[in-house]
Amino acid sequence: MNYSKLSIIDLPDNTFKGKKVFLRVDFNVPVKDGKVIDDIRIRKTIPTITYLLDRDGKLIVASHLGRPKGSRDPKYSLRPVAEKLSELLKSRVNFVDDCVGEKVEKAVRDLKEGELLLLENLRFYEEEEKNDPEFSRKLASMCDIYVNDAFATAHRAHASTYGIAQHIELRLAGILMKKEIDALTKVRENPEHPFVVLLGGAKVKDKVGLIEYLLPKADAFLIGGGMAYTFLYAMDKKIGKSLLEEDLVDKVKEYISTEKIILPEDHVIADKVSAGANYRADREIPDDMIGVDIGPITIQRYASLIPDSGTLFWNGPLGVIEVDEFSKGSTEICRAIAYKTKHGLFSVIGGGDTLTILEKAKLDEDEFSHVSSGGGATLEYLAGIDLPGIKILNDKG
Ligand code: 3PG
Repeated sequence: MNYSKLSIIDLPDNTFKGKKVFLRVDFNVPVKDGKVIDDIRIRKTIPTITYLLDRDGKLIVASHLGRPKGSRDPKYSLRPVAEKLSELLKSRVNFVDDCVGEKVEKAVRDLKEGELLLLENLRFYEEEEKNDPEFSRKLASMCDIYVNDAFATAHRAHASTYGIAQHIELRLAGILMKKEIDALTKVRENPEHPFVVLLGGAKVKDKVGLIEYLLPKADAFLIGGGMAYTFLYAMDKKIGKSLLEEDLVDKVKEYISTEKIILPEDHVIADKVSAGANYRADREIPDDMIGVDIGPITIQRYASLIPDSGTLFWNGPLGVIEVDEFSKGSTEICRAIAYKTKHGLFSVIGGGDTLTILEKAKLDEDEFSHVSSGGGATLEYLAGIDLPGIKILNDKG
């Protein structure tokens, strides 16, 4: 596997002048009442967009949004994203309400150097997710250069992330894609020790690939969140009404036998998983209670196990972070990671709930070595999978 991919910053500035550049981004952002309510994924692509516009490229920007299942659904239109993008770039963004066909071809012909055109949601065509050869060819026919900055979609072999690139000679990583590959490859292939993996979230199932790939490489796995209870159950602990994945108990026993797995010693337990619940911290979980966060003893222990140097990867909340009372485990540990990062720890955090945790902990992204924009893509990459959206890009050197 070659992890070193050719990126837009590796080529001379005049490479992009007057060239039609197809830029695949991940603008899969939450939209409510026609407004983008979280623009982090858009902001993360701005360096690539401005880099290409400043070098006089004619930018054709494309993304999916949601899962409209191959038909046109206004709820999933990228029009609100065009507005947000224009606000962030402080310049006009041309938007065309389709992504292939005559209307799009004309809009591309009209593009001037240093201008940007945002296409409508690629998933309004079922051909996108099917990686349809004809649809891929149509997308490719619009452009001279292909750039992929959509790390969060790199685990999908779709027409715009894979098929299109087979028709284009110059297939480059954008700046965000390069940052993600560099940080996650360091974690995956070359972690400095001590290497600690902190895992939370509801299900063991989602993390099996990652655990199996990183277990031989890591020094310790600290486990929290809903997934911890299947581990505790496998050790004959009482878990009350907490989450349990019975089908994974034997697998989890194998992981425990490596002696690298560290589990919560106490918990926040509640009678229901919502605000207004009766809750307390306890070492035991009675039959009628549910584990909803790691407890204070575990917070202290986990914080002390976060190394001052070396590598730490974290994915998944350690408690039910939607409820303030159950988010302390995640926010305290997050603060401990930020603190150790200042002292030399290489910290990579990611996952869908990361931003909520950062917000609640009042921390900024730049307090960590890298905050991954990927959800499923990050987990698959760290499970050792060669992601199709990365594989198809030109190798460097
Ligand atoms: C994500 O949000 O993880 C990516 O945009 C991929 O979306 P998908 O799971 O719908 O393919």
